[in-house]
Amino acid sequence: MKKPQRIAVLTGGGDAPGINAVIRAVTKHAILEHGLEVIGIVDGYEGLVHNRHRKLSYDDVSGILTQGGTILGASKTSNPYQYAVTEGGQIVFRDLSQRAIKMVRDLKVDALVCIGGDGTLGIAHRLHKDGVPVVGVPKTIDNDLRGTDVTFGFDTAVAIATEAIDRLHTTAQSHHRIMIVEVMGHWTGWIALYSGVAGGGDIILIPEIPFTVKAVADKIEERSKRGRRFSIVVIAEGAKPVGGENVIKRLVKKSADPIRLGGVGFVLQEQLEKATGREARTVVLGHLLRGGSPTAADRVLSTQFGSHALELIMRGETGMMVAVHGCEITHVPLEVAAGGPRTVPPDNPVLAAARTIGTSFGE
Ligand code: F6P
Repeated sequence: MKKPQRIAVLTGGGDAPGINAVIRAVTKHAILEHGLEVIGIVDGYEGLVHNRHRKLSYDDVSGILTQGGTILGASKTSNPYQYAVTEGGQIVFRDLSQRAIKMVRDLKVDALVCIGGDGTLGIAHRLHKDGVPVVGVPKTIDNDLRGTDVTFGFDTAVAIATEAIDRLHTTAQSHHRIMIVEVMGHWTGWIALYSGVAGGGDIILIPEIPFTVKAVADKIEERSKRGRRFSIVVIAEGAKPVGGENVIKRLVKKSADPIRLGGVGFVLQEQLEKATGREARTVVLGHLLRGGSPTAADRVLSTQFGSHALELIMRGETGMMVAVHGCEITHVPLEVAAGGPRTVPPDNPVLAAARTIGTSFGE
């Protein structure tokens, strides 16, 4: 195997706290230990299609460990295999993958590090099959990637949501209200489950367990009988009632994955006010969960992930995604991550513990 000389790094999809920590770890490891040249692809796959990149030096990545966002920029709508172009006033999707692959070849990089969630890593897997040596790093606040116990960004999102729930507790108590907190999570309930448990949510509603308004209202009444005149409901944006539909906030026409969820909290608020005769308020945390500085745990995980990604490249083990299994940093084939969202399983131990202490899941 020829020793790698130059690598590229790309950050795709929605941002998550810890991306810069990964970029820093990959780049520092590459420069300090192996003397490699590192290229940053600008704005995710958009940069691969439109030839936008810049060199990353040691100085560029020094001091970014704690910074939120991504110094490279990201794009949620650019898929080289289904790239949106406007033709005759209409948006149509074209396969521009050969153009992206040519850019990687022209850059003469020996491997591409793709930092992203299911969408980004699904594309990374296709690129790998098409001859681009790729290593993936699992990033998403949603924690919904297969092949790894946890993604970086999740811990921070849970910490932010938990702090918000703590704050809402005091105002809910003062006004004897139902407070509904809607959190992101896409089609899964990881953020709602973990922040709901950490924040002492009375009712946690996740996509994996369809709810009924009656069960939620009954729980609120049961609490009232115990003298608890307020209730906190933590709801995932993808939660839906038994036999009901998801609440969609918008459709992004230029995206091959156009659905953006949001607003289910407001729908539930109206239904609960009717069912209980009590006052309710809804707070949607939305993108707050993606912004700002990563927690200590995410900084550590991102550093380990970035360092391991570079190690894989040096060993010629591309086509892999770095992962964490228990306490071990390891890797799995990229196709595992591309196999659809990892939902909260019915036997999840956090779910089980929450049930034992009376938390309702609206069943
Ligand atoms: O995947 C990350 C995520 O923040 C999801 O939790 C959410 O459903 C979606 O992205 C929001 O997308 P956008 O940034 O396009 O609003």
